[in-house]
Amino acid sequence: MKRIAIVATTDRPGSNTLRFANYLKPLYESNGAKADVISLQDFPIEKVIGGKYGKDIPEVKAFNDSILNNDGIVFVIPEYNGSFPGIFKLFIDYLPFPESFSGMPVAFVGLANGSFGALRAVEQAQHVAGYRNAYVFPERVFIAQFHKQFSDDKGLHAELQEKLLRSQVRNFISFVGNTFPKQNLD
Ligand SMILES: Cc1cc2nc3c(=O)[nH]c(=O)nc-3n(C[C@H](O)[C@H](O)[C@H](O)COP(=O)(O)O)c2cc1C
Repeated sequence: MKRIAIVATTDRPGSNTLRFANYLKPLYESNGAKADVISLQDFPIEKVIGGKYGKDIPEVKAFNDSILNNDGIVFVIPEYNGSFPGIFKLFIDYLPFPESFSGMPVAFVGLANGSFGALRAVEQAQHVAGYRNAYVFPERVFIAQFHKQFSDDKGLHAELQEKLLRSQVRNFISFVGNTFPKQNLD
């Protein structure tokens, strides 16, 4: 069984991103994957104050491992000021370099209350993931006007978005089933 981490990439309390990550979990499970939701609200930010780059911080390692010890990662990304949230970049900047995303399949869902559904945020995140040698899954889902387009009981109101999401879920699980080589500099 494939293990998928669904990462809500904001630390905003009560975020729609976490709501949507929780909506995604049973979709993965009903397609035969094991899925865990991890929120960047739980990133141990207090342990990195002052700039602890390159230091061994057990709390940060434990948090990172809860995401990296999976077969694939789905990042659910809200748009903040035309980009992804700062906590997401902080999390990436504290991952072990260069190995963390090497050989790791990753998929993206974007959501925003605005009209562009976090297109900019996801595309910027794809750049960063690509830089870190992740295998970026090409099907992306963007949910614009999230506050009008989603409810916890009914899911996505737009039929097309729901179909796009279900296709992404099914196909990402197949994608994760491939063997992805890690960078090898020997
Ligand atoms: C700091 C901040 C910046 C935001 N910037 C944008 C933006 O650039 N474009 C947009 O459509 N929505 C923006 N929003 C609204 C989010 O799309 C909205 O909060 C949505 O529910 C997703 O974020 P959430 O997970 O924090 O709820 C912003 C929200 C916050 C808190």
